[in-house]
Amino acid sequence: MAGAEQLKEQAGIAACRFVTDGMSLGLGTGSTVRYSIIEIARMIKEEGIEVVGVPTSEDTKRLAEHLEIPLRTIDVATNLDLTIDGADEFDPKFDLIKGGGGALTREKIVAKASNSMVVVADETKQVSTLGGFDLPIEVDSILWEDVRDGISGICPGEVRLRGEDEDPYITDNQGFILDCSFGPTISNPESLEREISEIPGVVEVGLFVGICDAVVMASSGGVETLVKPDGRL
Ligand code: 5RP
Repeated sequence: MAGAEQLKEQAGIAACRFVTDGMSLGLGTGSTVRYSIIEIARMIKEEGIEVVGVPTSEDTKRLAEHLEIPLRTIDVATNLDLTIDGADEFDPKFDLIKGGGGALTREKIVAKASNSMVVVADETKQVSTLGGFDLPIEVDSILWEDVRDGISGICPGEVRLRGEDEDPYITDNQGFILDCSFGPTISNPESLEREISEIPGVVEVGLFVGICDAVVMASSGGVETLVKPDGRL
């Protein structure tokens, strides 16, 4: 039976069937999409495809540079053909929780600048209702305590600063992350995203609603591609 790492590799590689010559690609962040990025580099070297990537984090930028994938920066990224990225959870409507790796803000910018988005995941990420994974929210590093108080009025569980109070996790944008324990209760992610975004000091919410078009999911039974019926793929 395939181990967790092999499942990630299978999903990451299988998603590259959506990659074709000439595409501009959003390159996600995380341990699953890492395998897609390695596969894209192989396709460039061995199959001669020409693509340009837009990395969603400094980690992904370093990896893509190391693999010699041609890159474009996020500030000039519009109208990308496809983003491939991981997720912490996906639900039956293909809505997502993202940000376990802390890159949610740039991930959402790049995904929204793309004409389609494919998520790579193993079967543990598939849920009926979002929220079992603590919802990551990027916040302004000065206002984080006010934002935490604001979110506590909405979130039924704990709202924790990622890292330690004295040594918080810092994002690529110099923000902090609040991890919010909603539990599997997020049945209307769109309205929750809107409500949280209205709190001053919130930079981005790790809910990706109506953005993902397909999930390439690896399980012990093999790799399955779930395509959103009314999506863009
Ligand atoms: C980073 C993310 C990741 O895509 C998400 O956490 C999934 O990562 P992994 O494939 O390592 O489980 O949202 O901000």
